Amino acid sequence: MNTEEISTLQNKYLIAAYAPEIALIKGQGCYVWDACGKKYLDFTSGISVCNLGHCHPVVTDAIQRQAATLVHVSNLYMNEIQPRLAEKIAGNSFGGKLFFANSGAEANEGMIKFARRWGSDKGKSEIVCMNQSFHGRTLATLAATDKPKFREGFSPHLDGFVYAPFNDIERLEQVVHDKTAAILLEPIQGEGGIYPADQGYLNDVRNLCDEKNILLLFDEIQCGMGRTGHYFAHQHFNVEPDAMSVAKALGNGFPIGAFEIREKWADVLTKGTHASTFGGTPLACSAALAVFDVIEKEDILFNCQKMSRYLEGKLATLAKKCSKIKELRTIGLMIGIECDGAVDTIIKEASQSGLLILSAGESVIRLLPPLVVTQTEIDAAIEVLEKIL
Ligand SMILES: Cc1ncc(COP(=O)(O)O)c(C=O)c1O
Repeated sequence: MNTEEISTLQNKYLIAAYAPEIALIKGQGCYVWDACGKKYLDFTSGISVCNLGHCHPVVTDAIQRQAATLVHVSNLYMNEIQPRLAEKIAGNSFGGKLFFANSGAEANEGMIKFARRWGSDKGKSEIVCMNQSFHGRTLATLAATDKPKFREGFSPHLDGFVYAPFNDIERLEQVVHDKTAAILLEPIQGEGGIYPADQGYLNDVRNLCDEKNILLLFDEIQCGMGRTGHYFAHQHFNVEPDAMSVAKALGNGFPIGAFEIREKWADVLTKGTHASTFGGTPLACSAALAVFDVIEKEDILFNCQKMSRYLEGKLATLAKKCSKIKELRTIGLMIGIECDGAVDTIIKEASQSGLLILSAGESVIRLLPPLVVTQTEIDAAIEVLEKIL
């Protein structure tokens, strides 16, 4: 099928919640191909999902082998792959216990339920979220997301969520009270425009939570799984949460999400308090186990750090030449280029020139290249950006 035929079929049968213009049919490493055979350098990684590049052979092999062995059993039965994956995530983060889901929003829903359940015998139920946050599109995660546009037409909204400005500890202190159960934040705001937390702010938030007996919840769905050059973004800041959510790159494209709870709170969700039919199937967990295998064996975190420095240097040079660029925000391979106006035309022109990039809000270009990216690929992306900007 060519792009036009795919588009006709899409428009006839799919709800128009998305409006894509390019039809992609194949991916390999940092590249994807459209239905006309055009090749694109993918600096979106499917929105921070295919962190190891498209169709990484180790992940593909794990999926193929597990698909021929056991796909799904339900959580009424044990399977060794789920606890082995939990061991990997816990071992590379803060040693907590895990619950598996299928997406980021579902992982966040579970984490929010955990916080409410924890607070239920303490008279605490309110969750403080951040301005410009993004936590998903289900009703609870939408209530936690500070984007009124996304909530329009979906009232009544879930109660018990309030907002505070990100990176402002004084305002946060004013918002918390006796009924605050948790503070939920992204250590690096992704959809909001690539805004990293200030180190001092995160330290203060952790102290505030400890002082006032409030849970600290980190949403690491976009910034976790190696994106910052560490397994998880909180390790970059050396601040541990009481719970965190992960999804996106956990399965390198195979749908899987999870939340991890610190060991001391792990008993809050007792038998029957939460469930998910597809959560943590052997197939999904095999894909995610293979992801950890590749991160270790191919030294992905090191490549991320090295390529981050290289890309940052190249962008800094570009910014000096280009008055359109107002600010660069780089943390690992999570990059925000703040421009002096709307960036949608830039993104369209980049794709016409064979480079896929994203926006984050109106005026920010967001780059999320695969963590396996090379200098040559970065040079090629910079060449396109330089031409357009
Ligand atoms: C920080 C963050 N949290 C949650 C989500 C929601 O994840 P999903 O789309 O898998 O439900 C996203 C998706 O972009 C995200 O970036």
